[in-house]
Amino acid sequence: MKYDFTITGYTGLTGLLGSPVSHSLSPLMHNEAFRLLGLDYVYLCFDVGEDTLEAAVKGLKACGIRGFNLTMPDKNRMAELADGLSPAAQMIGAVNTVVNEGGKLMGHNTDGIGFMRSAREAGFEPEGQTMTILGAGGAATAICAQAALDGIQTLNIFARPSSRFHQRTLQLVDAVNRTTGCRAALYDLADTEVLKSSLLNSTLLVNATSVGMAPDTGHSVLEDTSLFHPGLTVADIIYNPRETKFLSLAKAAGCRTFNGLHMLLYQGAEAFRLWTGRQMPVEAIKEKYYI
Ligand code: ATR
Repeated sequence: MKYDFTITGYTGLTGLLGSPVSHSLSPLMHNEAFRLLGLDYVYLCFDVGEDTLEAAVKGLKACGIRGFNLTMPDKNRMAELADGLSPAAQMIGAVNTVVNEGGKLMGHNTDGIGFMRSAREAGFEPEGQTMTILGAGGAATAICAQAALDGIQTLNIFARPSSRFHQRTLQLVDAVNRTTGCRAALYDLADTEVLKSSLLNSTLLVNATSVGMAPDTGHSVLEDTSLFHPGLTVADIIYNPRETKFLSLAKAAGCRTFNGLHMLLYQGAEAFRLWTGRQMPVEAIKEKYYI
């Protein structure tokens, strides 16, 4: 077992592409996991925006990078640059993890996998269930695709009709309905009656909007607490603050709740598994970084 962290001529390169990236927790979690397992890899951050992504990807591929993550604003463009896509990345149209398979860059999306793992950890089993999700941005799309692949039976998405993602969400709904056993539909977030009936039938409610995120913590995307019922597991993908107003309202109504912190960890753990074939030691990472 190797406990030091010496970079040699054999060290495998992994990393994160996006802009900005310097605030990211990913180098901490991956480098600590490499160290704990004695794996000869390093994970670095590269500030690469849309204009330079194609050149950066070509260069990293030529240098034999083992794999990398992508964050905003590079996830959608990477789906076009990859040599192949996983079923989830194909459905989402976005890639957050690339694996270099013998010179071919294979695009995956582990965000939804991360979310579904944290939902299972909170006691939620997706098979045959109805789920309501609020929002239709990048995270929402990834969660919807994976939930459908993992056996959710009915998926009701509520978003603003004015959303810049409207067309893309309709495409996602179509892809889910064509390629999985899940029935998906898109509704207007302002349609309280439809939302009420969706929640009555749901066992999982997800806030995938940015409402309630720091510094603007005083709002909840749902203020009407009569919409929550104790049979509902309620998730917020926000992790700053750890407990949003949305989650505290749900908790007060007797719902089981969880935030987005473990989604972040587990999307990284899945990328780590894809690159190394090993399980990330997540309990040690949680302890070290208070995740
Ligand atoms: P992420 O990558 O975290 O998913 P995003 O792609 O910017 O972030 O998505 C943010 C989501 O929050 C979007 O669905 C956005 O809705 P619009 O597309 O209509 O803007 C949603 N959102 C942000 N503010 C909102 C608000 N006040 N009410 C409802 N939805 C909101």
